[in-house]
Amino acid sequence: MTDDGKRPDTKLVHGGRRKEWLGGMVNVPVSRTSTILFDDVESLEASYPPRDGALSYGRNGTPTQWSLAEALNQLEPGAAGTRLFPSGSAAVAFALSSVLEPGDELLMVDSVYGPTRMFCEQVLRPHDIGTRYYDPLRGPAEIEALLTPATQAIFMESPGSLTFEIQDVPGICALARERGLVTLLDNTWATPLLFQALSHGVDLSILACTKYVSGHADVMMGSVTATAAHWDKLSRTAQLFGQYVSPDDAFLAARGLRTMGVRLRRHEANALQVARWLAEQPGVAGILHPAFDSCPGHQFWQRDFAGSSGLFSFILKDADRAAAVRLVESLELFGIGFSWGGFESLALPVEPKRTTSTPPAGPIVRLHIGLEDPDDLIADLARGLAMVWSG
Ligand SMILES: Cc1ncc(COP(=O)(O)O)c(C=O)c1O
Repeated sequence: MTDDGKRPDTKLVHGGRRKEWLGGMVNVPVSRTSTILFDDVESLEASYPPRDGALSYGRNGTPTQWSLAEALNQLEPGAAGTRLFPSGSAAVAFALSSVLEPGDELLMVDSVYGPTRMFCEQVLRPHDIGTRYYDPLRGPAEIEALLTPATQAIFMESPGSLTFEIQDVPGICALARERGLVTLLDNTWATPLLFQALSHGVDLSILACTKYVSGHADVMMGSVTATAAHWDKLSRTAQLFGQYVSPDDAFLAARGLRTMGVRLRRHEANALQVARWLAEQPGVAGILHPAFDSCPGHQFWQRDFAGSSGLFSFILKDADRAAAVRLVESLELFGIGFSWGGFESLALPVEPKRTTSTPPAGPIVRLHIGLEDPDDLIADLARGLAMVWSG
């Protein structure tokens, strides 16, 4: 399918389903191979270096992986290409490594996903790539004041992990472009359906496809989508590093992608219903959800986003962490687990870490609202909160 202005829901259904890859079926089949066989030595030699859409070597993929990458790419207007990675964290780590060199400095949002911070501290720093953190509420002018001659890239995650601040991504990207810096965004919460990263100025958009793309809590995968200026280097380096995803996982992720639009709308509606109910409970001190006007950066969410997804946090009033743990452990319909974005609801007591400012005072509980009936989820939370407050 060409990207000729079709709407996102249509792209989800038709993206990457090239006739020559389908062989008459609805889904691109799972092609497992390490070896590609050629008719003669000349055609084998002509297959290297690998070209997009041409078989050369198993590690460079088959239509199973190419189809998924193409479908993801079509969701981001302005994208030159999308590479798949074995997890969201691998995609983050790889994207950062592809734009930074020893002696460079990275500006990293302070509300970033914990393992991304650990990558900066434990992998980049020993390689002489320093990371300085900035508060998620800092706008372009304040970020400009942090730049040094060594600054090479700005990493954003909007909303922030655990606390959900929304950043002025277009403003930060405009500054970066003016100063010749690369911008990277972890867009996992919104996906390109709710926030089109490249149209808002981002150079490299990263997804943990483990979450909403796959959508069924059964696949680990990541992707990086790049503008033309960054695509060749990203793609070539990923190939040289042997980055690869299995055809079985690519098939499952593509199957998830086809329904991501309807799932996200249900996650959004369910999460808003639960969050609005929680906001009225006397035992709740606050809601950390980008669609609430109390959420820092809410005005940027209103301006830039097409909706919200199923992940948010709330703060318990006059309680300690032990109460948050008791609440989470008392819930029947919410699993206790890290990886969100599946069809199921999850609850987790969380403790955000910051170096530039004080995060919202806790105890904070993060919820992923799944596809269950929201009235049942509310009844479960009501029981849990009553139990916590009755001691
Ligand atoms: C915002 C965000 N980015 C990246 C990741 C990492 O993805 P993965 O679990 O696929 O490595 C996660 C996982 O929770 C996440 O929440």
